[in-house]
Amino acid sequence: MEYDLCKELQGKSVLVTGGGGLIGSRIVGLLRGLGARPVAVCMMDAYPGSVYQGLFGVDAGARDIVVGDVADEALMRRLVRGCDFVIHAAAVADVAACTRDARAAIRTNVTGTQVVLDAVASSDRVQRLCFVSSASVYGNGDPEDWASPEPEKRALRGALEFVYGRTAPRFAEDWPLRPLSVYANTKVFGETQTALTLGAVGVSFSVVRYFSVYGDPQVVKRGSHSWVVAWFAARAALGLPLHLNGGGAQIRDFVHVDDVAEATVRALVAPAAQDMVINVGTGSPTSIGEVAELVRGHYPEVSVVETPMPPGDPLGGYASTRRMREVLGWAPGISVSEGVARYVAWLRATPEAIPEWLRGESAVRS
Ligand SMILES: NC(=O)c1ccc[n+]([C@@H]2O[C@H](COP(=O)([O-])OP(=O)(O)OC[C@H]3O[C@@H](n4cnc5c(N)ncnc54)[C@H](O)[C@@H]3O)[C@@H](O)[C@H]2O)c1
Repeated sequence: MEYDLCKELQGKSVLVTGGGGLIGSRIVGLLRGLGARPVAVCMMDAYPGSVYQGLFGVDAGARDIVVGDVADEALMRRLVRGCDFVIHAAAVADVAACTRDARAAIRTNVTGTQVVLDAVASSDRVQRLCFVSSASVYGNGDPEDWASPEPEKRALRGALEFVYGRTAPRFAEDWPLRPLSVYANTKVFGETQTALTLGAVGVSFSVVRYFSVYGDPQVVKRGSHSWVVAWFAARAALGLPLHLNGGGAQIRDFVHVDDVAEATVRALVAPAAQDMVINVGTGSPTSIGEVAELVRGHYPEVSVVETPMPPGDPLGGYASTRRMREVLGWAPGISVSEGVARYVAWLRATPEAIPEWLRGESAVRS
């Protein structure tokens, strides 16, 4: 299944929704490097302007950046008309924000997704749409085994850990979907609707299920519990204790944003990715507590405190990567310890990435 990214994408126009965000901007940069002509459409509303401009390097005035809404039908029809490929990454991407305001999440992640899909379905030019989904669609896997607080179920988890040497399920793409949050539910909709809408008209699609994406220049958001590497590193840099929600036993599969960008672009063109759902992870389970220890390796004086489990935060699991390796002919190259070290080095060199409101918390404590 040989394919050449440069050959497939040279001179091709690629619409990247959410192309100003953390992952979208990295995808846009990769596409430019491959000789494609990316166009980003993004609300640029997920962070202060200084983050987009100063940290993500996104210039809202540039010719190939459109500040706009994916729910705007006329805009999306116009933008999609000129494109060979579409990557749909725009979303209210913060789990807690979706829980706080479900209608806003539905407006972008559900209605906006349908608008993008309809525009693609009526185009006679788009060769493939890649829908960006999330491992949150798996929830806790089998709730019988993993989610129950009952002592016997906890004992079962312990026994499985002992027998299989792992603390959480390894999610394969054909596992049942069990969303535990508004955010995850919108991603289930997006996946299903992508297959229904584009399958009906014979437009090729792929779905990428990212696990936990991290890496510079990711920054924390107020009121969010997502993006734990950024949270721990920023708090550690300020001498604040690291918050282990629910004790930090949750399992995640941390995949670096550079690897995520590459996986997405491969899923856009790989012949075998046609109409496929593909996990994007490393295949290595890491607990939140382990991430805290990796960060404390760089800041040994920093303490940890246990904090309550936020609503909608799954115990989680890690990726089965077999399909990703087979279909994309590729695997991520950056381990979590290397990625955390890179992030800490970046944050030390870029202290302005720590928001003022978090510095305020540090000042109150001292
Ligand atoms: N970061 C992760 O760990 C992770 C994990 C799994 C999946 N994802 C998915 O990856 C994608 C990108 O996430 P990210 O981490 O870069 O988030 P991000 O918040 O940095 O980027 C998302 C961008 O989408 C834009 N956006 C929101 N609503 C919009 C609308 N109506 N119209 C146009 N643009 C809009 C925002 O302004 C933002 O810049 C999202 O679909 C997210 O759900 C992220």
